[in-house]
Amino acid sequence: MAFPENFVWGAAAASYQIEGAAFEDGKGWSVWDMFCRKEGAVWRGHTGDVACDHYHRYQDDVAVMKKIGLQAYRLSISWPRVLPEGRGEVNAKGLEFYDRLIDALLAAEITPYVTLFHWDYPYALYLRGGWLHPNSSDWFADYTRVIVDKLSDRVRNWMTLNEPQCFVGLGHQVGIHAPGLKLGWKDVLLAGHNALLAHGKSVQAIRAAAKTPPLVGFAPVGTVAYPISDSPADVEAARLATFSFHEKTLFSNTWFADPIFFKQYPTDGLALFGADVPEVGADDMNIIAQPLDFYGVNIYQGMPVKAGDNGLPEVVPFDVGHPMTAFRWFVTPECLYWGPRFLYERYKTPVYITENGMSNIDWVSVDGEVHDPQRIDYTTRHLRTLHRAIEDGVDVRGYFHWSILDNFEWGEGYKERFGLVFVDYPTQQRIPKDSAKWYEHVIESNGESVLPAVTETPVA
Ligand code: NOJ
Repeated sequence: MAFPENFVWGAAAASYQIEGAAFEDGKGWSVWDMFCRKEGAVWRGHTGDVACDHYHRYQDDVAVMKKIGLQAYRLSISWPRVLPEGRGEVNAKGLEFYDRLIDALLAAEITPYVTLFHWDYPYALYLRGGWLHPNSSDWFADYTRVIVDKLSDRVRNWMTLNEPQCFVGLGHQVGIHAPGLKLGWKDVLLAGHNALLAHGKSVQAIRAAAKTPPLVGFAPVGTVAYPISDSPADVEAARLATFSFHEKTLFSNTWFADPIFFKQYPTDGLALFGADVPEVGADDMNIIAQPLDFYGVNIYQGMPVKAGDNGLPEVVPFDVGHPMTAFRWFVTPECLYWGPRFLYERYKTPVYITENGMSNIDWVSVDGEVHDPQRIDYTTRHLRTLHRAIEDGVDVRGYFHWSILDNFEWGEGYKERFGLVFVDYPTQQRIPKDSAKWYEHVIESNGESVLPAVTETPVA
């Protein structure tokens, strides 16, 4: 059987990674505009100043999406494009860009899924303390209201934060993403707590102001440990590893999702972070734990695990020669079975795969085409495992391939190409890769084309 009847086939991108027009039409600076100017911060000093110039070429890009047959497109809004100071005065031109983009998508019969924050934080608010400021969650709620007022007559699907693990962890603790801070855990966890409050207040704001009934979720990283066999002991070990801490890190499912679904931080994380855990206000967890309509999750890879002698999870090293992407991420299709399955079991909320894909070493071949068999193979394998999860009862509502276009891959600049569509940056020419044409058939057949052919049992 193909995928469920209403399964949503989409692709995704994010404002800073594709829009460009970084200093046009009144847009304010984001922390990424600033971070890219710091020596050594981004590969070869690349910036998102121009990126894919999507701000000017969005109509062509929507036409490419339509050609592929996308049913949905996950975009994000640049907060400082709309509110140059992060709060206060609205930049009408910035807001109008999203207004036009949404109209273009709807005219092409592509459903917009809007992420409110995909990392391009207003620099003006950063100067006031950013995510460490006690009012930071209110700033985000105010920004949410501006967007919802303008777009919710046409937009129904909302995500608050993209990958808090990254913008808090990589941005405030590891220092390799904007704003490039290496704070102590106390401050890092405070920033994380404020981001959770921002999420909760944003959900409240969406539900209070939306003009059409909204469907609301978020889009964290899915850190997935998968069992190397189907034995109950290995499965239990993988489940445990997926939902537990073994070191101080924000790359955790539970640190962000448990407060949202269970009104509490995970006990093993609390024990590990000890005195660095922020003070949780009396009403904080009620604000954070707003009911969600879906659990969006970005999954690219997983970690193989088995049950050790004591039953506890043991990481199993990859074999020599295990497949890797251009980014040197191991290819582990099992993650798209076990990730959604574990998350659905624990949080009991319908899942969307809000990102999955791979970077590949793509170029334009002598025949003028871009051949990317690895991406087709990677996605085929991941869609097969996702399909198996659905067959086993996991409520997965849709799949968004990352990404529609090659784009600015944060600290890696334009080195990593994740797109279904190749972007020749000097000319801004778009060339749909083989995978884009392949994805067209996947969508057309509602996923049937990726499933293994059924071998008919001969009638005796
Ligand atoms: C996660 C992020 O949300 C996205 O911005 C990034 O480009 C992809 N993963 C690939 O690393």
